[in-house]
Amino acid sequence: MAVPVLRLGLIGHGTVGQSFTHHLADAVARIERRTGARVQLARVAVRHPDRVRHLARHVHIGDDPQQLASDPAIDLVVEASGAPQAASWLAAALARGAAVITANKQAVANSNVLLQALAHRHPGLFAEATVAAAVPIVRTLRDSLQGEDIRAIRGILNGTSTFVLSAVERGTSWEEAVAAASAAGLSERGSTADFDGTDAAAKLAILATIAWRTPVHVDRIRIHGVGAHSVPVARAVFAEGRRLRLVADAWANDQRHLLIEPRVLEADDPLAQVSDVTNAIELEAALAGQLRWFGPGAGGVRTASALLADVAQAAAGYVATRRTQVAA
Ligand SMILES: NC(=O)c1ccc[n+]([C@@H]2O[C@H](COP(=O)([O-])OP(=O)(O)OC[C@H]3O[C@@H](n4cnc5c(N)ncnc54)[C@H](OP(=O)(O)O)[C@@H]3O)[C@@H](O)[C@H]2O)c1
Repeated sequence: MAVPVLRLGLIGHGTVGQSFTHHLADAVARIERRTGARVQLARVAVRHPDRVRHLARHVHIGDDPQQLASDPAIDLVVEASGAPQAASWLAAALARGAAVITANKQAVANSNVLLQALAHRHPGLFAEATVAAAVPIVRTLRDSLQGEDIRAIRGILNGTSTFVLSAVERGTSWEEAVAAASAAGLSERGSTADFDGTDAAAKLAILATIAWRTPVHVDRIRIHGVGAHSVPVARAVFAEGRRLRLVADAWANDQRHLLIEPRVLEADDPLAQVSDVTNAIELEAALAGQLRWFGPGAGGVRTASALLADVAQAAAGYVATRRTQVAA
């Protein structure tokens, strides 16, 4: 049987998208060996298609993500644009049967359609890159913990706020620490999502949706962020061996509770050991007990790792479905 070729369309070619295309070039042969399908980058959609992109000549570069998502010749749509309207592009691609792979937590966490798809394990939607970049928590929750009752989720889901709090507790001013995070490429200048809690809230909404198998819209999360007002507390608790961190917390008893808030962590709390852009996720499962993951939660290469994992998974799914159809 001829090797099936899956045509991939990419929306967004910034920090994450460029890293993805760079590493996809190496991964194509590996994915083909492992899945039996060849993935070929066919189209890219960006805001400024005239910029130099260093992509193979055959790749079509345009500025219309909606059209890319609706193109019947595109089998896999990978989205790394951060555009708020991406949810409608992704929903259109899913509806026509394409596999959809996204890094865009805000688009997912604010879309009832995509949250429904995640909650109900839509086989065409892949979102590993939306939470904690390279830490493989989305598929673990979705698949490995299928039989579990997830009682609580606790974590540090935003590395930039940890980076800044780590600096201010050692004496740096809030403004200098935020500028250092921006200079290190950890946050966009002027962006508030890392500190006001909305970035972490989108990730918590996605995790809770998968864990509880019901859409948890980001609006349901109580959010308190960190800012210059947090500095005195961060320093005071640091002097006592404790840490102030922006913590995501969700638990279920007779009701579901979800919040993002600055919280003082005791010295022996595993989450207190987290520094820089490391993310931490702790789950409380009825049978498995307490489970924890730590790892790099941001960066182009780390996020590309998660996107490539999803591309390989989608390719494997395509081949398995085709085999079933041929055998029937
Ligand atoms: N950076 C990280 O560490 C990281 C980690 C995990 C997840 N993510 C997520 O990954 C996504 C991308 O992040 P990024 O850091 O790569 O962003 P970025 O560097 O700003 O790149 C965004 C890309 O998307 C394109 N784009 C934006 N809006 C568009 C629109 N309306 N139509 C067409 N193209 C559009 C831009 O086009 P131009 O090139 O023409 O401007 C650019 O290529 C976001 O959802 C982010 O939350 C990022």
